[in-house]
Amino acid sequence: MAFLRPFVAALVLLAQYASAQKYVFAHVVVGNTAAHTQATWENDITLAKNAGIDAFALNGGYPDSNIPIQVANAFAAAEALGSGFKLFFSFDYLGGGTPWPATGSNSVASYLNQYKSSSAYFNYAGAPFASTFEGTGNIGDWAQGGPIRSAVGNVYFVPDWTSLGPGGIGGDLNNIEGFFSWDMWPNGATNKTDDTDLAWKAATPGKTYMMGVSPWFFHSASGGTDWVWRGDDLWASRWAQTLAVNPQFVEIVTWNDFGESHYIGPLTTNSEVAAGSAIYVDNNPHDSWRDFLPYYIAQYKGSSFDISRDQMQYWYHTAPTAGGSTCGVIGNNPDQGQTELSPNAVVEDAIFFSALLMSAATVTVKVGSNPAKSYAGVAGINHWSQPFNGQTGAPVFSVVRNGATVKSNTGTAITASTTLSNGCTNYNAWVGSF
Ligand SMILES: *[C@@H]1O[C@H](CO)[C@@H](O)[C@H](O)[C@H]1NC(C)=O
Repeated sequence: MAFLRPFVAALVLLAQYASAQKYVFAHVVVGNTAAHTQATWENDITLAKNAGIDAFALNGGYPDSNIPIQVANAFAAAEALGSGFKLFFSFDYLGGGTPWPATGSNSVASYLNQYKSSSAYFNYAGAPFASTFEGTGNIGDWAQGGPIRSAVGNVYFVPDWTSLGPGGIGGDLNNIEGFFSWDMWPNGATNKTDDTDLAWKAATPGKTYMMGVSPWFFHSASGGTDWVWRGDDLWASRWAQTLAVNPQFVEIVTWNDFGESHYIGPLTTNSEVAAGSAIYVDNNPHDSWRDFLPYYIAQYKGSSFDISRDQMQYWYHTAPTAGGSTCGVIGNNPDQGQTELSPNAVVEDAIFFSALLMSAATVTVKVGSNPAKSYAGVAGINHWSQPFNGQTGAPVFSVVRNGATVKSNTGTAITASTTLSNGCTNYNAWVGSF
């Protein structure tokens, strides 16, 4: 049987290579897809695939009557496209008001069993992948030999049980294959570092880590108190941090949570925007945040990337924060043990912009009739911010090389005060690119 050895060794190597492959997902709130058809899902999947995203994490609360219909549409779309784009479940234990039942009809096990054999279901290390949003009251459901695994068989389980804290996960390591930390926005008027990611990695030895990357967070839909966390440079700095943290998986939060302003997918219809949020979402597209994803994802995965054109992306709230009323928005959330701050102290009045350059060039930003400011860009990725400093007007972003403007585009105008009819400050971002 000696002749079999090299073949077996090659298979083992292949298996190791396959499981070491990194993946990038985007978190899709299925509850926000009520107006979707299979065609809408096909459009979403094509846009995500083109951005280099590997799979959608289908987040659903319980109970939610959208879930069976839209999960079916999503799988039908991914299967029909056959593009290799995958889907998996992220069971939301808080989103629907009731935790997910482990077994029975309309349960974790029934959804996994119904879809795990789909050609579009995301498998890792030979098992269907599953995640959660919280669910720390139901950890036993996922235990080895517990009800879910008994009903479904092998599962590659990567929950977000962030509320346990890195010090509280130790006793549950046998119940998980990987860990997902939801801690991806900074506290207060600070920048997010990778400290909590490294703490979670250290607290989950032998497990894979899923790192969250999010561009923004303004919750505008509660109807009561609303919250803002600092976004600002986050889209650039978190992608840079993926290189240091080197997680097995990255989950982008989110594709379509319009009410929390961290969407990077398209807005199809206001009927999919949480009540009260449309005024803050309309005219504030975030699609341009996808433009650098092929580059960021290639960097994270360690694959080669050819910068074949000069690109920029830029984002800002379109009036200074003091140019409107806070309308009940607070900075951070005391219910999560954070210190409540003025929202205007948490976010910066600035234009945030990144440039992906073929070679060194000067980047200029000129707001309205004010003089242009110049920034020295290097080949590859660059990121800066420019405080509003009272300037108003439409910002013009340009890449200038050897004295000639290579490329230029104009962003939406910055106004001295809010343009919203309710007089409120819009803490959401407008995002553009070229
Ligand atoms: C936050 O990050 C930005 C972008 O990297 C940087 O310019 C700024 O100085 C940082 N602020 C603090 C307080 O570290």
